[in-house]
Amino acid sequence: MDAQRLKDNFAAVAEQGDAVALFFYADLFVRNPHLRDMFPIGMTGQRDKLLRALGQIVAKVDDLPALVPFLRQLGRDHRRFGIVAEHYPNVGASLLATLRHFSGPAWTEDVESDWNAAYSLVAKVMLEAADEDALSSPAWWNGQVVAAERRRFDIAVLRIQPDRPLPYTPGQSVALEVPSRLRHWRYYSMANAPRPDHTVDFHVRLVDGGPVSPVLVRATQPGDRVRMGAPIGTLTLDESSNRDVLLVAGSTGLAPLKAILEQIAGRPRPPRVHLFFGARDRDGLYDLEHLSKLAAELPWLTVVPAVSDEIVPDETGGHGFSSQLRSGAGPGHLGLGHAGGAHGGIEHGSLPDVVARRGPWPGHDAYVCGPAAMVEPAIERLTASGVARDRIRLETFADAQR
Ligand SMILES: Cc1cc2nc3c(=O)[nH]c(=O)nc-3n(C[C@H](O)[C@H](O)[C@H](O)COP(=O)(O)OP(=O)(O)OC[C@H]3O[C@@H](n4cnc5c(N)ncnc54)[C@H](O)[C@@H]3O)c2cc1C
Ligand code: HEM
Repeated sequence: MDAQRLKDNFAAVAEQGDAVALFFYADLFVRNPHLRDMFPIGMTGQRDKLLRALGQIVAKVDDLPALVPFLRQLGRDHRRFGIVAEHYPNVGASLLATLRHFSGPAWTEDVESDWNAAYSLVAKVMLEAADEDALSSPAWWNGQVVAAERRRFDIAVLRIQPDRPLPYTPGQSVALEVPSRLRHWRYYSMANAPRPDHTVDFHVRLVDGGPVSPVLVRATQPGDRVRMGAPIGTLTLDESSNRDVLLVAGSTGLAPLKAILEQIAGRPRPPRVHLFFGARDRDGLYDLEHLSKLAAELPWLTVVPAVSDEIVPDETGGHGFSSQLRSGAGPGHLGLGHAGGAHGGIEHGSLPDVVARRGPWPGHDAYVCGPAAMVEPAIERLTASGVARDRIRLETFADAQR
């Protein structure tokens, strides 16, 4: 298999945009109408998931140590859809038909045999993982909501009791399905380290127009049922490291980092931890009260809240001005309690800027979670502040601004 040839071919096909996914699903459902019911009724915004994953797979095709764990998680996670070995050739055939169609004259026998080999490998790894998992775990967990707390109009904290233990590592996520949005599974991160009673907390932020998050935030109550898939994700604590830790959370990106924080708190000798928690405005710092209590109890923990967009009152109590102006205002903005950089203990500026301002951070491990618009600049600022790139672990919730 020629990895570069595969990557080049996929890049040329992917350039053709939405038409690729449309063709793939049309082909899949025309050839296999019985598969249609496995997918959500409305598939807008859904179609590119499989093909985007294929892009990630192709990008790692010559890096098996990274690829195999990803595929194994994907295989285990696919058990919740009721997929069995016989379905894989159906998807493989439509995938190849799609790639052939969009490659035009670039489609050669060699390219076809590369794709056949790659797909067989992917299917084999996913299926093996699913089969192994079936020996010890259910295909999904049923859960009951035991508490639903609306922290503000668009953020809720839900506590769910699974019907049997749901083993996971802090920092991971599960796909969740609500009965009123069947087959619209969405990932949410567990916001706590595993508990003796097995309950899990989720922090959900409403995305306008999304099918699932408005239901979870506005219409979910104790007693409601959900289904959960297998835990996935690699934003997990490196337990072999004794380095000090930075946790950088944008909005509900706090959830997995809070789980990691709880895990650290269980260590006999916790490292120093700085938790940066950012939102657009103060209201968005929906968990600050709890985090402040933790910071007061745990001498090794510093919590740095930050807001990016809020109009803050000036010192004379007169008209407010934008924190974006403030955050660019220079070296007076050094941290909590300093006039100019923080008001009422809250820093002002974009989260990556605030993290950089409080640095440098050589010798630290960093864990970052939030929207791509926050995560990407955060990585840049962290590496510029002395954090080695391979000491940064991250999870991106969505491409759009959270
Ligand atoms: C691994 C992982 C873990 C996640 N964990 C959490 C979590 O703990 N808490 C949480 O609130 N969300 C989390 N998300 C996002 C979550 O899965 C949903 O995408 C989100 O709740 C919106 O769901 P929806 O069905 O309403 O809209 P979707 O159909 O998912 O999204 C509608 C549109 O909005 C965009 N979008 C998705 N999320 C956001 C967002 N936050 N802000 C702006 N636009 C967005 C999508 O790209 C899409 O274009 C996670 C995502 C991933 C991949
Ligand atoms: C190369 C093999 C495959 C890859 C890389 C792949 C990848 C993915 C990804 C990334 C998702 C989105 C997960 C989520 O966000 O919830 C997904 C969902 C799904 N996949 Fe697969 N998959 C593969 C094979 C299959 C096969 C063989 C089937 C059988 C029909 C299948 C059926 C589904 C269904 C029903 C969904 C849920 C609907 C959706 O979210 O679009 N997949 N797949």
